Amino acid sequence: MSALLLLFSVACVGDPDNNKDSEGPIDSAEPKPTEACGYTPMADLDPAENVVEVEVVASQFAWDPGTGVPLEAGMAFNEVVPGPLLEAKLGDTVIVHYANNTDMDTSLHWHGLRVTPEMDGIQQMMGDPVEPGESFTYEFTVIDSGFYWFHTHMDTATTIEAGLYAPILLHAPDERAPDCDMPVVLDDVLLDEGSLQIAPPDTDMMQLMGRLGNVLMANGRSDRRVSWRRGQTTLLRLVNASNARYWDLFLEGHSLQIVGTDGGFLEEPYTVDHLVMAPGERYMVVVKAEGDPGGEYRLMNRRFQLHEEGGDMIEPDPMGDGENPVMTFVYDRTEVNGTAWVQPTPDVPAWGAAVENLGHHWVLDEDMMGGTVTIDGQAWPDVPMVDVAMGVDTTFEVENKSEMHHPFHIHGNRFQVVDVGGAQVPEGQGWKDTFDIPPRTTVKLVSNLDNPGEWMYHCHILEHADDGMAGMMTVME
Ligand code: C2O
Ligand code: CU
Ligand code: CU
Repeated sequence: MSALLLLFSVACVGDPDNNKDSEGPIDSAEPKPTEACGYTPMADLDPAENVVEVEVVASQFAWDPGTGVPLEAGMAFNEVVPGPLLEAKLGDTVIVHYANNTDMDTSLHWHGLRVTPEMDGIQQMMGDPVEPGESFTYEFTVIDSGFYWFHTHMDTATTIEAGLYAPILLHAPDERAPDCDMPVVLDDVLLDEGSLQIAPPDTDMMQLMGRLGNVLMANGRSDRRVSWRRGQTTLLRLVNASNARYWDLFLEGHSLQIVGTDGGFLEEPYTVDHLVMAPGERYMVVVKAEGDPGGEYRLMNRRFQLHEEGGDMIEPDPMGDGENPVMTFVYDRTEVNGTAWVQPTPDVPAWGAAVENLGHHWVLDEDMMGGTVTIDGQAWPDVPMVDVAMGVDTTFEVENKSEMHHPFHIHGNRFQVVDVGGAQVPEGQGWKDTFDIPPRTTVKLVSNLDNPGEWMYHCHILEHADDGMAGMMTVME
């Protein structure tokens, strides 16, 4: 039996409601009042100039995704979803006093940051988690600027779906503030259509395909409205915190100037009319507000096909096949002379092409009969350890033998994408830690691996990660 047929039959057996007429996106309750463009960081408890000290408490917390019905299985950091913004600047020492008041084991992970292995959340996950009622103090020095996020790193498909994720904004020294600097955390959640509560745990099908939601949220709500002013320069800092959804975004009436990605600013910005974001990825986007005073413009998401051609049969998206609004920008009647955007100078070496020294060739695959996803033929914890030397320019190849996209994420070091399926990527791109690996495609990455220790790598479709699509890499001093 072919893989497609097998999946199709699983879908029919496992999901009897599959063809229900009512299935589709869930609408918002009454729209929220318009809010100001900007952000509020967590309170810094240490007055010292170069120290940011904050408190983060995870708890069960019923939050409203915009349907008007609080989620009983919800969880949050500091009783807000997304969790509160951690703001610091290059060179700062960050101290996070973390308390776990949920009923699950947790560890915190600073996605994309080059911290030490002890602070990365993985050793805890494997050995000594922050148990219910326990606390732990994380401490690290900020050596990366840009836009990142933190989240729990245990039972991620459950805990991140429940709301345990938050943005991190780390300023570069030569960054000049735009008129509006706005973090936007994108997420979807799958609700039961009757109760509007988080739908029951994953079916086998969801485990294999990834859990797609039926509510799209910007900063934890499906109905955000943000006020804009004609002429202003806006920096949107976007992160995809969804379990499995790839977003394909466009902004009505505006183009998007990409100025940065996972590991900070790019050398050369470029302009697009739509932007695809895999789970875990970040993009920093400048928008020149050129809409009409009084006008409303929506950030829209269109369907992204996770599977190669023909896969749509087996992969119904609960948001449907069309375009769906994510948030709305509402122009007031005034006009300003906006601050010009000045591109900060990043420290990105231009490898431009793969280097000879091959660190590892990973193979991502699916075992349809076993219903599992694998790396190098195995599932966690049996994926063989990868050993590489520190401080040497090294190429990594990630080969996707399966018929669906996998967002591949590596902890603790940063990389440049130099080749996707044989096509060289132009120079001047930024640092990355999360990479879309399209179906039946090999992607080449280059790094000079400057952070020693044992680091996890995994697929950032959380169902896949929880299912064992993960391994460890040692960077040896
Ligand atoms: Cu977003 Cu292993 O992490
Ligand atoms: Cu990470
Ligand atoms: Cu995957």
